[in-house]
Amino acid sequence: MGTFLKYFLTLWALGLLAVLSIAGLRGSTSRKPPIEIFPDMDRQAKLRPQTTTAFAGFADSQSSRLHVAGTVARGSAYEDNELNTGKSADGKLVEVNPLKVDAQFLQRGQMQFGIYCQPCHGALGDGKGITSKYGMGNVANLHQERLVKAPDGEFFQTISNGKSSMMGYAGQIPVSDRWAIVAYVRALQLSRLGTKDDVPADQLGNIK
Ligand code: HEC
Repeated sequence: MGTFLKYFLTLWALGLLAVLSIAGLRGSTSRKPPIEIFPDMDRQAKLRPQTTTAFAGFADSQSSRLHVAGTVARGSAYEDNELNTGKSADGKLVEVNPLKVDAQFLQRGQMQFGIYCQPCHGALGDGKGITSKYGMGNVANLHQERLVKAPDGEFFQTISNGKSSMMGYAGQIPVSDRWAIVAYVRALQLSRLGTKDDVPADQLGNIK
């Protein structure tokens, strides 16, 4: 073995021993913290939750602040399940739109439908939107019998969460607008299902 290698190995073993003795096992338990080379923010002035504090800024002397009024824990149930999920608390789909449907609401729904649904489902809701020209296949026809008979809550769910190849729009469309779209989809469906009997007698003359 060459001299250099002998020295190198000795130094290396000593170095290893030094590292182990500083950073390695202590061999016994201790309540003292180990040597911290980068303590960063391990130790800092702080208050633990649910204790008291003498900090004058907190009049109630509690270390934590109370929740803002009306705070709801993530994942907990909604105050109004039917409105927010389209389902009642026991999981049944809502039959009828929980919001008041009037002309203004329908107009809002028409506008939102035009923005979010029309590109795929088409202005008539027949599934022949502009995207079908660019290869978007099997977009649902909203006039099919199953969907005409489906409860309003099912549309709300489909808009919110999506369905198979359609993505959900809960992130883009606020709850009330989703219900407005549901109302407008109903109007679209009715536009195909209506008969002459649905027209008020004094308007019959206006039909072409
Ligand atoms: C990017 C294209 C696209 C957009 C935008 C889109 N959809 Fe769809 N939608 C689809 C496709 C594709 C299907 C068929 C999903 C399947 O069955 O694979 C579908 C299915 C549906 C269905 C039928 C679900 C069922 O039960 O079979 C409804 C209702 C529906 N969409 C409503 C809407 C409404 C309302 C909007 C606007 C908020 C919307 N969609 C926006 C592509 C789209």
